[in-house]
Amino acid sequence: MSVEPAALPDFCRNFDDYLKLLEQQSRALEVPAPESAAAEISFQLAQKIAEYIYFKGKMPFSEFMHQALYSPGLGYYSAGSHKLGAAGDFVTAPEISPMFGQTIAKSLQQAWRSTEPKVLELGAGSGKLMCDILKQCQQDKMLPDTYYILEVSADLKQRQQRLLNERLPELSTKVVWLDRLPKNFEGVVLANEVADAIPVELLMQTEQGLTQGFVGQTEQGFKLEFQVNDFSQGWQKRHANVCADWREGYLAESCEHRRDWLKGLLAEVEQGIVLLIDYGFEEEELYSPYRPQGSLQCYYRQKKHSMPLALLGLQDITSSVNFTQLAQTALDSDAVVLGFTTQAEFLTQSGIEQFVAQVEDSDTMSSLSVAQQLQTLLMPNEMGQSIKVLGLSKNFNGSLSGFASLGMNKV
Ligand SMILES: C[S@@+](CC[C@H](N)C(=O)[O-])C[C@H]1O[C@@H](n2cnc3c(N)ncnc32)[C@H](O)[C@@H]1O
Repeated sequence: MSVEPAALPDFCRNFDDYLKLLEQQSRALEVPAPESAAAEISFQLAQKIAEYIYFKGKMPFSEFMHQALYSPGLGYYSAGSHKLGAAGDFVTAPEISPMFGQTIAKSLQQAWRSTEPKVLELGAGSGKLMCDILKQCQQDKMLPDTYYILEVSADLKQRQQRLLNERLPELSTKVVWLDRLPKNFEGVVLANEVADAIPVELLMQTEQGLTQGFVGQTEQGFKLEFQVNDFSQGWQKRHANVCADWREGYLAESCEHRRDWLKGLLAEVEQGIVLLIDYGFEEEELYSPYRPQGSLQCYYRQKKHSMPLALLGLQDITSSVNFTQLAQTALDSDAVVLGFTTQAEFLTQSGIEQFVAQVEDSDTMSSLSVAQQLQTLLMPNEMGQSIKVLGLSKNFNGSLSGFASLGMNKV
């Protein structure tokens, strides 16, 4: 079903008007306006969403976020924008320093004493983490049998393949890209900053009670609207302990899709561990009355802001992970919590310092000095405290030194 352009709202009826809207949004965010090819993709996505709203009415925010990030050929992760690294929109730990992957490699080797020497990396981004891990394992003569990657973005999959062929062509047969989760997996599953990219619902406390966020449209652009409904009331009841003190205007996110994602993943893990590394909190802290703005964040050319409807399909949209929810999901899926700690603690306990003297310029994509790389990964005001590591295991008797001094294993 498609609609005549004349029936679409003014802002996306023709490309010139849409370009003006993008320019207006860029000015408000104080970022450079998108180039014409990127604007054209954003225009097509805007028309697709406007058409959906025209036929079906307001779109739940999670569906909007899904379209903005993953709409085939048009979404942020599905189209060809640069995304990761200094020239992209955001940097992740592997882009900051090879020491991240080298340290994770040591943890994998430790895990492989008690499970199959295999890795399944979810959402491998530029492929940097995979290359750093494989290079370290090659040096230690502890290569995995197979390094699987499950990546939803066709564009990033190509980047990963290119990077592997450039950096470690001799290991190209070790890496296998999958289209779906493998059955009965035994080994280590790794997901760095993937859970936070899974779409969320928006919630707002109002006079009428808790409301759910929907995306509607006016002639001027997409618009966020909140309404009380079964979902928001049900959520409020189930989370009465955390939302009792929320004032009017309190914003939060809920992510049932992350629970489903983890459930689906754990159903395919027969034996081994799952390491989830991400921005996030335990539930009580995530929904604390002292965090009234929620945690939704958008990234465009290294600028962090909270306007998810702007620059459609051209910016990353993320929100903090509720680690309590993930730990509970694990317990409901016959898995156990191996450990939960901060990135700083995990990397330090796993021996990151041993790699300081080894960092080679050729391995570093960032322009930071080694001391700055270490600081960014470990300092509390950088990634050290805000990123957490949750280890889950199934039928696994081993341990990881990253979780050796557990201060936070109560999730
Ligand atoms: C923020 S990037 C992180 C990339 C990389 N792990 C890193 O640390 O640099 C998110 C990645 O997850 C991928 N992704 C998002 N949802 C996914 C899913 N359900 N399954 C697999 N990959 C996913 C994206 O395409 C992208 O590669």
